[in-house]
Amino acid sequence: MNDHDHQGEGPPSLEARRSLLEGSDFHPEPGQEAWEQWHQARAFIADAINQDGDVLDVGCANGLLLTSLIQWSPDHQLVPYGIDTRADRVKEADGPLASRGGRAALLPMAELARLGEVGLPEAYDLIYWNVWDNVSFAEPVWRERLAELASHLKPGGRLILGFYDSDPHQSSARIIRLAEHGVQIAGTHKNPAGPERLAWIDAPNHSS
Ligand SMILES: C[S@@+](CC[C@H](N)C(=O)[O-])C[C@H]1O[C@@H](n2cnc3c(N)ncnc32)[C@H](O)[C@@H]1O
Repeated sequence: MNDHDHQGEGPPSLEARRSLLEGSDFHPEPGQEAWEQWHQARAFIADAINQDGDVLDVGCANGLLLTSLIQWSPDHQLVPYGIDTRADRVKEADGPLASRGGRAALLPMAELARLGEVGLPEAYDLIYWNVWDNVSFAEPVWRERLAELASHLKPGGRLILGFYDSDPHQSSARIIRLAEHGVQIAGTHKNPAGPERLAWIDAPNHSS
């Protein structure tokens, strides 16, 4: 269950939930309760959240993942920020994120240097990126983007990469490729309820 932008008004209706899932580019299989499928596909991400603080979702869509992660991480105080290239999604995300102390902004990942200019923090305790299907870490440009993303972590912060390939071997191969390219993977996690995989990179603390 997720109250997203329905705070204080009870849980969203079935129709509202459908539209929230659609606004997050989540396409449930027919035959099983859609909200349950969302939970099964994404709730395991909360297992990688290891600290409180500002969290950035790169490609936040309507912000549903961020508001869900807040709900699924009751032991951590998270302030949600998101960027996306779709103006309609950013508009949908901004209200729910602002009501939790954060905000959404229209910004492509390639322009992270403009985070401050669009009113978002420059550095985060947690960053989440659902590594899109078109991303290959064999291409230097994506490794550079990844390094730039990691440079926006605070000391001790964590960059969590989500791989949603329907074939889990495909996701594992992409994670192995990252390690082969010298990226220090601090941990990985399999979704116990689906094919999704996570890998994360931890920024050093000042003292280490
Ligand atoms: C599948 S949704 C992911 C939603 C949510 N982060 C999740 O993991 O469930 C991918 C989002 O990434 C956005 N996106 C794609 N390319 C982008 C880019 N270069 N910079 C920022 N956002 C991008 C899309 O507009 C879309 O809203």
